Amino acid sequence: MELPFAESFKIKMVEPIRKSSRQEREKWIRDANYNLFGLKSDQVFIDLLTDSGTGAMSDRQWSELMLGDESYAGATSYFKMKNAIKDILGFEHFLPTHQGRAAENVLFSVLVKEGDIVPGNSHFDTTKGHIEFRKASAADCTIDEAFDTTLAHPFKGNIDPAKLEAVLQSGGDQIPFIIVTVTCNSSGGQPVSIENLKMVRQLADKYGKLVVFDSARFAENAYFIKLREKGYQDKSIREIVREMFSHADAMTMSAKKDAIVNMGGFIAMRSKELHSQASVFNIMFEGYITYGGMSGRDMNALAQGLYDGTDFDYLETRIKQVEYLGKRLMDFGIPVQQPIGGHAVFVDAKRFLPHIPKEELQAQTLAVELYLEAGVRGVEIGTLLADRDPVTRINRYPALELMRLAIPRRVYTNNHIDVVAVALKNIYDRRDTILKGLKIVNEAPIMRHFTVALERA
Ligand code: F0G
Repeated sequence: MELPFAESFKIKMVEPIRKSSRQEREKWIRDANYNLFGLKSDQVFIDLLTDSGTGAMSDRQWSELMLGDESYAGATSYFKMKNAIKDILGFEHFLPTHQGRAAENVLFSVLVKEGDIVPGNSHFDTTKGHIEFRKASAADCTIDEAFDTTLAHPFKGNIDPAKLEAVLQSGGDQIPFIIVTVTCNSSGGQPVSIENLKMVRQLADKYGKLVVFDSARFAENAYFIKLREKGYQDKSIREIVREMFSHADAMTMSAKKDAIVNMGGFIAMRSKELHSQASVFNIMFEGYITYGGMSGRDMNALAQGLYDGTDFDYLETRIKQVEYLGKRLMDFGIPVQQPIGGHAVFVDAKRFLPHIPKEELQAQTLAVELYLEAGVRGVEIGTLLADRDPVTRINRYPALELMRLAIPRRVYTNNHIDVVAVALKNIYDRRDTILKGLKIVNEAPIMRHFTVALERA
């Protein structure tokens, strides 16, 4: 008999979590204005809000903390991070930042001007936020297949060459760079193929543009390339990573994902000139160029995390767990984005609650139901996240209305995953009894989902 799959780690330290009653949760979610970001973490049993900064560090990362050098300038920890970035990603220059959006803020301060257009594959909300904040716009060139959740395309993060070229032609000098998000979070944690990255590189060269990778989940992207793209089965994850980044001029990184740290990020680039331009903003917004908002110990843990995160056995354990949740939900007939993404399962709320009108926020309604059912916290990737159009102030209703169940790295067991799956099944079985959605009472002008106040419609 073939041996079953098992995790590539064992557990050395545990953190208690607590169950609650439905009655308690009813009160807590009301007090949080039906916004899951407003809950206290101890009001949550299984927290799938995000896989960002919520991972468990390895014993090697924890030991690196003890070796951190807290010198203001030129710390050994800076050089440890520099060497890891050079070794794994192949970039000569880098700037540490406190997280991913800080990297965007610094880099875009150099590159993005009013009126610019930044083409890419379903830009993440902070990326789009930092573009729109500068009175520029994001042009989504993701392939159409990504917007049909029932289609099992292997690389739904891919950029459509015709869409990209049309933007490059019409945008001219107003296009500072092309951004490719690997994996593409907003389209469901979906990977981009090497073939597609090559295509982007060729078009960028044809039009004289830079290519920037938003790299938060680059290692998960490499894992999917190894499994799905012809010719990559026998390459190591690190070989694939190097090949991916050979097509980029620069990258922004939220290290809270694939570098498995609780806080941290960076910008890396080939150009010394771009590094020195960005350094000015890094010093202004983040800190001196050799720490940029991070402590030495955190830079050490991040450097080690780049090695942990690009280990095949780790990635296999991680992505198989996400897939396990996806398979359980599919066995129950629950509509999920196909194929299952790298860091999360995305439940299609339009197909789960088709009788709730889109104005009543289907995905948020589902996320609130899941919390009430079992104390499981997911997150809305839909109308709330999409914000209003910055000019017309009209609500943007995205093609996909999803509830994301993001799995933290090395944190939960498959027993936890089973609780999540059965809780959703129970809701699915009684979905016809959910008659009302939610409505907005109060919202911020940009990135409203973090603080929005809601009530029952
Ligand atoms: N890019 C992508 C693709 C992301 O998913 C995120 C964050 C960022 C950039 C910004 O990084 O949070 O370190 O400032 N995603 C988190 C999430 C918040 O839950 O998906 P950050």
